[in-house]
Amino acid sequence: MVFDMDGSGIDAPALAEIIGPVGGDGQPLYRSLAGGLRRIIADGAVGAGKRLPPERALSIALGVSRVTVTSAYRELRESGWAEAVHGAGTFVATPSEETSWGTMMRLDGGPVLDFVNAAPEASPFLAGAYADAVANLRTTGHGYAPSGTIELRSAIADRYSRRGLPTTADQIVVTSGAGDAAHLVFETFARPGNRVLIEHPTYPGAVEALESAGAHAVPVPIDAADPDRFIEDADRAARQNAPTLAYLMPDFSNPSGARLSGNGRRRLAATLARHGVLTIADEVAADLVLDGGPEEPYGAPVPGAATISIGSLSKTVWGGLRVGWVRSDPELIARMARTYARRQLSVSIVEQATAVRLLGVFEDVLAARRTWLRGQRDLLASHMAAELPSWQFRIPDGGLSLWCALPDGLSSNDVVRRAAARDLLLAAGTRFGTGYAFDDRLRIPFTKPSGEIIAAVSVLAGTVSGDAGRGHPVEPAELVV
Ligand SMILES: Cc1ncc(COP(=O)(O)O)c(C=O)c1O
Repeated sequence: MVFDMDGSGIDAPALAEIIGPVGGDGQPLYRSLAGGLRRIIADGAVGAGKRLPPERALSIALGVSRVTVTSAYRELRESGWAEAVHGAGTFVATPSEETSWGTMMRLDGGPVLDFVNAAPEASPFLAGAYADAVANLRTTGHGYAPSGTIELRSAIADRYSRRGLPTTADQIVVTSGAGDAAHLVFETFARPGNRVLIEHPTYPGAVEALESAGAHAVPVPIDAADPDRFIEDADRAARQNAPTLAYLMPDFSNPSGARLSGNGRRRLAATLARHGVLTIADEVAADLVLDGGPEEPYGAPVPGAATISIGSLSKTVWGGLRVGWVRSDPELIARMARTYARRQLSVSIVEQATAVRLLGVFEDVLAARRTWLRGQRDLLASHMAAELPSWQFRIPDGGLSLWCALPDGLSSNDVVRRAAARDLLLAAGTRFGTGYAFDDRLRIPFTKPSGEIIAAVSVLAGTVSGDAGRGHPVEPAELVV
């Protein structure tokens, strides 16, 4: 390993700024700091061979004790991310396959590459928005805001209006994320035995939400290569099954990446209106446009069509923020507001105030997110093409993952099991379908830092070429987002 001895390593204030606030995640402070440093190294922000700042300087810049920094550096050294050079300091080590494996730890202490969820790390705008929200928190009054604060409902409504769907604050209910919003819609409008038309493949959380209301899914194939074909198929399925509801992701469907054309979404809305179907448009990924421009939001007025849009800041900002919403006409919103008030008195005021600030600079938030995701998508696609040339995928125009078709005879569940034994966690294609559908598919998110993406592809390539694994089976994760 060649170390950069001429002192051109990163200085303490600059490193402290990139790391951001340390702690608050329930772990000891030194672990949280070590995790932050690993993330930065995996991301390439501090390259291999660079000198890390002296412990004392970094402790001052971060406002933590020197012991915290010493312990964090020790953890990095022990896990192979850094090396001490006697008399010269601590240097970033060249990432080996083992050490570039990211920040999540298995229970027995080893590193895990977690590609189960298509969920990016926090936006760089989040910390500032939180700090400002807390600094300006008004603590008078009872602190409950059923349906959401007027400031946040207005900000969400304004964004819909700007996107081409005129909306007022009384058409919004704020929820704890889009998953919560989906539960709210099904709880309010689905009755046991009702049928709900879904895309196939689809987001598994939606199927769980509709089933928890006693409804049944009616799967209709969706194909990103020909998304508008869904309209005829949905028409036929609606004739045969008489669904009362439909759950769709018109923009960058999870996991297929399909996006309906502008004309297609109006035709679909008219078709479903003819069948008396109330449509839920999940727009969690609608703003994650990586190529091309925006489309009119699903639900722009089509006579007789009833649409409920759901969305959140989970993919544009951070899943940990827990701010989402439903949007519909005032009468349907009033019904959902009553259901929600029975379940949940209010979404956190600090989170709502943070969301208002983020929506105030949303174009900048989105620009940063899109640039980063575009880079990660292209990196994943190029490594996949080089290392797994027989796996096929479309490069999606947006969203968070590749939906890969596996070569003949390869089972997604098998690949996932074998990858888990090499500490790479993935969700099998079957998680996104009914029965055994999609065992010939695998979703690979591009929401991870570059080092982890590169490592994950090489683990997958080793998995299918039959290299010996390291033999530590890991429990498959329950949560798939
Ligand atoms: C399509 C879709 N809807 C909803 C959700 C849940 O989002 P939230 O974190 O806002 O509850 C996800 C999360 O992955 C998703 O992919």
